[in-house]
Amino acid sequence: MNRLNPYKLAALAASLLLAAAPAYSAEKLKVGMMLPFTGTYAKLGATIKNGFKLYVQQQGGSLGGREIEYVEVDSEANPAKAVDNVNKLILQHNVDVLLGSVHSGVALAMAKRAKESGKLLIVPNAGADGVTGPLCAPNIFRTSFSNWQTGYAIGKAMAEDGHKRAVAVTWKYGSGEEQLKGFKEAFEKGGGKVIEELFVPFPNVEFQAVLTQVAAAKPDAVYSFFAGAGAVKFVKDYAAAGLKGSFPLYGTGFLTDGTLEAQGADAQGVKTALHYADQLGTPTDNAFRAAYSKAYGDQPDVYAVQGYDAAQLLKVGLTATGGDPKKSAEFAAAVRKATFDSPRGPFTISKSHNPIQDMYLREVKGDVNKVVRVVVKALEDPGRGCSMK
Ligand code: BEZ
Repeated sequence: MNRLNPYKLAALAASLLLAAAPAYSAEKLKVGMMLPFTGTYAKLGATIKNGFKLYVQQQGGSLGGREIEYVEVDSEANPAKAVDNVNKLILQHNVDVLLGSVHSGVALAMAKRAKESGKLLIVPNAGADGVTGPLCAPNIFRTSFSNWQTGYAIGKAMAEDGHKRAVAVTWKYGSGEEQLKGFKEAFEKGGGKVIEELFVPFPNVEFQAVLTQVAAAKPDAVYSFFAGAGAVKFVKDYAAAGLKGSFPLYGTGFLTDGTLEAQGADAQGVKTALHYADQLGTPTDNAFRAAYSKAYGDQPDVYAVQGYDAAQLLKVGLTATGGDPKKSAEFAAAVRKATFDSPRGPFTISKSHNPIQDMYLREVKGDVNKVVRVVVKALEDPGRGCSMK
């Protein structure tokens, strides 16, 4: 009788099991988080991480058949350290996916290294136009916004509100300058004029000198970009300088997102534009907000949404590639044709891999950024300089 050797039988069973399993399922997928965990943007880094991890937990700890593990590097929002930090993730930790960053200068360095190395990069905040412009690539995606998008939206809203003469105040670095450019484009198209541009070096929070110049210029309204701890201080200093009652304060949404508790009464009435708002009231947003506050004992902000959506995007790509983020073309094709449910609304991506999204004008009322109106529906970044079709 032809009896099967039990050892051969076990080997055969093992090889059949291996053949049936999707590629890579046995190996964990390493996500390298390069986010600011210290400094003025520390809270932004923390809520991006929370949002990302929340979605992964909701999926049982795996995306596209790969169990997720994390390596964290503190970017310190410092472009001078960005190349060393990203190389640490690529060369020392051999991560599969890069997630970062918050600061535009840091993200540009990450995008250059991602382009050279072919590593998948998902940008969960930084708006640097170049990431989805000249540096665009099949393996680079953004789940947040471009600097042009947010600046353009608030410029249009301020012109629609009837303001003609605006002073602009911003941190002086790539993000501040690109948002200001988007703001001017829309504000001037709507009949407004920027009468003065005032800059504060990043990450300084000494605002007295620029606030004196705002008062002297007597504008109809003020446009501003600050975020995180710097935004808290700017809004408080603006009120303390007695400007709040005389010159309405506007900004890109970072001025009042994730900051309201610390800004208190001084933020009341401040108007900003962003791709998210509190109390959107959709079933997806309600479920996200409830799950986030249950997990972390705090209300989510726009950064948490962007982190959550970075994990959603990763799942779409990994599911299409059998869990292999190196299959850039298949990964990109799946993400490009997907629409997934973001807390902000349906999420789709442009040809240069930047979100196409509604931009809301919001006003601080009580402890929320309340929607006033949709300023631009489905605003798409022009992807200037991107050669992907
Ligand atoms: C940026 O550097 O791109 C950025 C940082 C914080 C909030 C928004 C944009």
